[in-house]
Amino acid sequence: MNSPVTDFGSAEDALRLALLESQLAALFEVSSVLSRSLNLRQTLREVLGVLHECGRMSHGLVCLLDEERGELLISAIHDKDAEPFEKISYQPGEGVIGRILSTNAPWILPRVADEPNFLDRLNLYDQNLPFIGVPIRCGEDGAIGVFAAQPPAGEGLLADRSRFLEMVANLIGQAVRLARTVEAEQQALREERDKLRREVKGAHGFDSIIGRANSMRLVFDQVRQVAKWNTTVLIRGESGTGKELIANAIHYNSPRARAAFIKLNCAALPDNLLESELFGHEKGAFTGAVSLRKGRFEQADGGTLFLDEIGEISPAFQAKLLRVLQEGEFERVGGGRTLKVDVRVIAATNRDLEAGVRAGEFREDLYYRLNVMPIRMPALRERIEDVPDLARFLVEKVARLQGRELEITDSALRVLMRYDWPGNVRELENCMERAAVMSEQGIIDRDVINLTGIDVSAVGADFSQPSAVAATTSQIDLNDPDLDERERVIAALEEAGWVQAKAARLLNMTPRQIAYRIQTLNIRMRQF
Ligand SMILES: Nc1ncnc2c1ncn2[C@@H]1O[C@H](COP(=O)(O)OP(=O)(O)OP(=O)(O)O)[C@@H](O)[C@H]1O
Ligand SMILES: [Mg+2]
Repeated sequence: MNSPVTDFGSAEDALRLALLESQLAALFEVSSVLSRSLNLRQTLREVLGVLHECGRMSHGLVCLLDEERGELLISAIHDKDAEPFEKISYQPGEGVIGRILSTNAPWILPRVADEPNFLDRLNLYDQNLPFIGVPIRCGEDGAIGVFAAQPPAGEGLLADRSRFLEMVANLIGQAVRLARTVEAEQQALREERDKLRREVKGAHGFDSIIGRANSMRLVFDQVRQVAKWNTTVLIRGESGTGKELIANAIHYNSPRARAAFIKLNCAALPDNLLESELFGHEKGAFTGAVSLRKGRFEQADGGTLFLDEIGEISPAFQAKLLRVLQEGEFERVGGGRTLKVDVRVIAATNRDLEAGVRAGEFREDLYYRLNVMPIRMPALRERIEDVPDLARFLVEKVARLQGRELEITDSALRVLMRYDWPGNVRELENCMERAAVMSEQGIIDRDVINLTGIDVSAVGADFSQPSAVAATTSQIDLNDPDLDERERVIAALEEAGWVQAKAARLLNMTPRQIAYRIQTLNIRMRQF
C-alpha cells in the first residue's frame, strides 16, 4: 500500500477503505469458521463461502499437496462438491496453480484469458476476470497447497487482494496442520487401541489356557456357554488352578468384552474399606474422603466385576453384597441416592462354601445367588497329562520375558509328571521360571528340575488314575536318545499302565528281561 488510509480525498482510497472493512469482517468470519470444527473439507468450503459473501471473491479454490502422490489435489471449491473434481490433479510446476506451489509465491493475473499457462482444468473460471493464487504454508516446510480466487473486474487493488488472500491462506495452513496432527494422533491411538485389544483378547482367549484333559474340556465348554449370557458365575478350585484366567476368558469372550473388566480381591481389605471400594463414597463420607469416588460396581457398569476370594467376606458384608446381587442397587458410602448398575458378576473361591453354609459362616441365600453357574477348576494332579503342554507353554512364556530361546527336554517333562503339584499351575509356573534361571545354556533338563527344589521322590505321583497316566506318556518318545535306561523303562511302564508284559512289548523285550531291569534299576512298581 502506498498511501495512508486516512486520506479520504481520492476515490481509490475510499474504495480501498471499503475493501479493508469488508476484509476485516471476512477475516473475523474466516477465523471463527476455522476454529469451529476439525472437518477440513467442510470448514474450507465454509471459508470459501465467506470470501464470496463478504469479500466478493468468486470461484474460490483450495488444493492441498498429497504427500504420497506428490501432486496437488482439490480439497474445496466454492459452491461445488469437491468430489467430482477429485480426479483432477496438478503436478508441482504445472500450469499456474502448480507453479504457485513450486515457487511458493503468489501469482496475480489481471485477466485469465491473457495467460497462456492457465490450464483451466476445472473449466469453471471466468476468462475475463483477474485471478489471484497464493501458496498455503504450514510452518517452515514451504508450500503445502494453493489457495486461489477471482476478484471482481475493474477494481484495481489486486495487490491488496493478494495480501488478504495470503492472510487467509496462513489461517488455512494452521487449520490444515492442526487437523493433520489430530488425525495422525487419532490414527496412532486407534492403531494402539486395536493392537491392545488384539493382545488382550489373545492373552485371555482360549489359546492361552492350556488343557487337553477331559476335565479342562468341560471347563472350556462351560466358559463358551456361559460367556454369552449375564449369568453369575462361581469359579471353584484350589489355589493356582487358573480361576482368574477363566474369569478373564469369560469376560473377553462375552458381549461385554469391550467394556471394563474390574477385579477386586475381597480377602485383601477389612469390611469398611471393602464397602467403599465396592460401592464408592461421597465427598466427606469419612475422614480422608476428600472427593467423591466411584466404586468398583460403578466402574464395572456395562462390564464385568470379578470378586476374587469371595469366601473370605464377613457375614455383615455378605448381607450388603446380597442386596446388590439381588436388586442391582446400592448407595455410595455416605450418600442417600440409590444407584443402579448393569454388572455381570464372576466370583471365585478356593473355600468349601457348602461347609461354610453348614457352619453358619456363609449366608445360604448369598451362596445360591452366586452359585448360579459353578465352574470347577481341576487340580493339576487330576490332569497330570496336561503337564507337558503346560510346561512347554510356561517355558515359552519365560523365554519371551527373558528374551532368549529356552527348551525343555522330554526327560525333564517326565520328572514333572511324577510330582503332585499342591500349588497347581502357579507352582509349575514358578518351577519353570526357577529352572530357566538355572539353565545357563537354555536347556531345561531333568537335572535342572531336580535343582528347583520340587521333591519328586518324596511325593510320588498319584497313580490312582491309570488311564490318565497312560494317555500322557504316549507323548514321550521311547527311542529318545536323551532317555537313559531307567527313564526308558519307567516311560514304557507308564504308557503300559504299569503292566510289565505290555511294557516289555513296547521296549521289544521279553517279560523276563524287563523284570530283571526293574530289579537292577531299582524301579518302584506302582500298585493299583
Ligand atoms: N490352564 C492354564 N494355562 C496356562 N496358564 C495357566 C493355566 N492355569 C493357570 N495358569 C497360570 O497360572 C497362574 C495362576 O493362575 P490364576 O491366578 O488364574 O490361579 P487362581 O486359581 O486364581 O489362583 P489363586 O486361588 O491362588 O488366586 C497364572 O499365571 C496363570 O496365567
Ligand atoms: Mg486368583
